[in-house]
Amino acid sequence: MDSIINQELAILGGAPAVPTNDLCTDLFKWPIVTDEDEAAVLKVLREGRMSGIGQETREFEKQYAAWSGAKYGLAHCNGTMSLLVAMWAAGVSRGTEVICPNTTYWASATQALSLGASVVFADIDRHTLCIDPQEIEKHITPATRAVVVVHYCGYPCDMDAILAIAKRHDIRVIEDVSHAQGTLYKGKMVGTFGDVAGLSMMTGKSFPIGEGGMLLTSDREIYERALAFGHYERHNEITDPVLMSTLGVPLGGFKARINQACSAMGLVQLKYYPQRIAEIQKSLNYFWDLLEGTPGLYPHRPDPKSGSTMGGWYHPMGLYDPDELGGLPAEMYCRAVEAENGMPGRPANAPLNRFAIFHTADVYGEGHPTNRPKHPVPTEADESEVLGVSTQIHNLSIGIPHFKSYQPEKIECYAAAYKKVALQAEKLLTTCVAS
Ligand SMILES: Cc1ncc(COP(=O)(O)O)c(C=O)c1O
Repeated sequence: MDSIINQELAILGGAPAVPTNDLCTDLFKWPIVTDEDEAAVLKVLREGRMSGIGQETREFEKQYAAWSGAKYGLAHCNGTMSLLVAMWAAGVSRGTEVICPNTTYWASATQALSLGASVVFADIDRHTLCIDPQEIEKHITPATRAVVVVHYCGYPCDMDAILAIAKRHDIRVIEDVSHAQGTLYKGKMVGTFGDVAGLSMMTGKSFPIGEGGMLLTSDREIYERALAFGHYERHNEITDPVLMSTLGVPLGGFKARINQACSAMGLVQLKYYPQRIAEIQKSLNYFWDLLEGTPGLYPHRPDPKSGSTMGGWYHPMGLYDPDELGGLPAEMYCRAVEAENGMPGRPANAPLNRFAIFHTADVYGEGHPTNRPKHPVPTEADESEVLGVSTQIHNLSIGIPHFKSYQPEKIECYAAAYKKVALQAEKLLTTCVAS
């Protein structure tokens, strides 16, 4: 690595730190689809059983729930739907409020509006990039029904603090595990701490099955409400007398079930998932160990001694401190790294508070904005006081390579790219400012 980091920066005309194009090789290729996945999916296709709830879906739900440590698993057509159903099952309804981190994909939040509830955004913690528990408490009102916590980019939320706050204020905790299948918080799988969890299994995710979602809960009432809302052909599993009186038609008017071909792939993926994420963890931990002590760069991972892990390390990020690099903006740093390794670093999600849907949009033609929390969501003009971290996220974090296989020599080149630019930040800054 030492021979690389002192060379001229690639963005200034030097040789790149990573001379090869590894994008389509085993180093990054995802998902891993083998003959076993193909055979399982083909079986469903040839037997014409893509629709309905058959043995693959039931077995997938059972095995996924058992692996997670939840009592019930309910498969959905996608993660967005699993979270909508989870919200309704947890009691999110007209006039209530849902607190959500300001840094996440829109599908952690937007479905609350479809249920007549309003969304309130809480800031994230600068080190975990997950919702800051102290910020949750600031946003609780008498209307608050639930908080959605997102284990962002695989990092487990501070569940001890979150559960204590939820208990104190009698609000439900909905976990969005879309980035964190297999992530441990103090030795226990995320998705099993709150009242209910929803997660995505679309192709780009760490747990990929095409399109799919999974709802997890250990609460029978929540499970039955989820069945009643979006799973009309499973109403015979419902035992609650009030829900039973509504049998036959889904209460939400949604058909939320998964495609059986995706369940078949899910069963195969689950079989190999623990060993695949162990390989990812080994690779990314090695990458960060190589960068230890590099100014301006810090790993986005929990202390390994805490028993917490990063699961499949989906959408991996690094923490960036521009002050340690003479004020070099993250965007400029990333452009220089891209010149070194040929890969654009994927930035964090844009702050949700800036989207019109949470301010002015009258989605349902009611003559007023659809989102109407007690305290309005801050706009770009007044966001910095309350959402200071999430609105600065693109200067406080950087995308890093998502290694899928442990190839130390390759990983060393990628780490060298990040280190080389950090160590030459001052030169980069002066050259770019001068030109
Ligand atoms: C945090 C988060 N929540 C929810 C979703 C929605 O899942 P899906 O795309 O499967 O509907 C996604 C991603 O796609 C996500 O990243």
